[in-house]
Amino acid sequence: MENREALNQSSKTFWPMTVRRVSFDWEKTPLHWIPQSALASHAVNHFSFTLVRGEYFFCRIFNKTLPYIHDEKLKADVKTFIRQEAIHAQAHKESIELYLKRYGVDIEKQYEMSFKLFDRLLADQPLGIKLPKRFEREWLNLRVGLVATIEHYTCALGKYVIETARWEEKGANPEVSDLFTWHCAEEVEHRAVAFDLYQYLSQDNYAMRSGLMLIFVPIFTFIMVKGTVNLAATDQKIPKTQRSILRRGFWKEWRNASKQELIPSISWFVTTSRSFFAKDYHPFYEASTQMALDYIHRSPAVKAYEQRKAS
Ligand SMILES: [Fe+2]
Ligand SMILES: [Fe+2]
Repeated sequence: MENREALNQSSKTFWPMTVRRVSFDWEKTPLHWIPQSALASHAVNHFSFTLVRGEYFFCRIFNKTLPYIHDEKLKADVKTFIRQEAIHAQAHKESIELYLKRYGVDIEKQYEMSFKLFDRLLADQPLGIKLPKRFEREWLNLRVGLVATIEHYTCALGKYVIETARWEEKGANPEVSDLFTWHCAEEVEHRAVAFDLYQYLSQDNYAMRSGLMLIFVPIFTFIMVKGTVNLAATDQKIPKTQRSILRRGFWKEWRNASKQELIPSISWFVTTSRSFFAKDYHPFYEASTQMALDYIHRSPAVKAYEQRKAS
């Protein structure tokens, strides 16, 4: 750790986190913004829909935990986390909806899967069922654990996008690349917050977090694959064999795209969970804050935001 004293604190984020009100213009963005693979473009585009519903869910859940946090530093981290995630969700929502509407995509339909998960199943009243009062706190803590589990993946995806995919260097559309890479960098920047909160509220219940990861991995992998195919199915320019998970063409193209390091491989979604099962796991060790800041400092959207702020 960069600061050993921080090991004993509730908050392990001992670097400053910043809220950046960036904006993006996808007015001229092509549908296949990753030129090497239309399917990879759909895979990343679809992820926006999951992020919008998912990150608003994170904000709702974390807002509910504030009265239970009696550590000022952790509380401040959680508040910054909420503001960052709200801006992420809003940035994706504004960009993806207008952009895909131009290509005739039924936006509501693309939200269906993540809406059912985050707004119905994981609601205060799951699937409309009112929980007994005594379970409300446990249900909240469990959902915080789930957010910590998901944030393990957003950090890993952040690392993948910044270090491995490097879309812009491969000729991808700069606006879309910047939105995702800026977002990914902030995921790395705030990677410790959800886990620190989970440890604080649930005393790092190892069985609970392992169980959550075991449930999450197949669901997340399914959402990534099914969401991609749902969006690809709206695109007449993509070969028919790539528009169904039952066709070999879809899996072949996914493999082809992941070999070019445009999107992670299917096995990546499984193996990335491994480190989370270590008893002494902490997200601090999963990525480098400096790597994230290096991108943030050169992001065109962040530079534009800083100029607006200064003027
Ligand atoms: Fe985010
Ligand atoms: Fe996040």
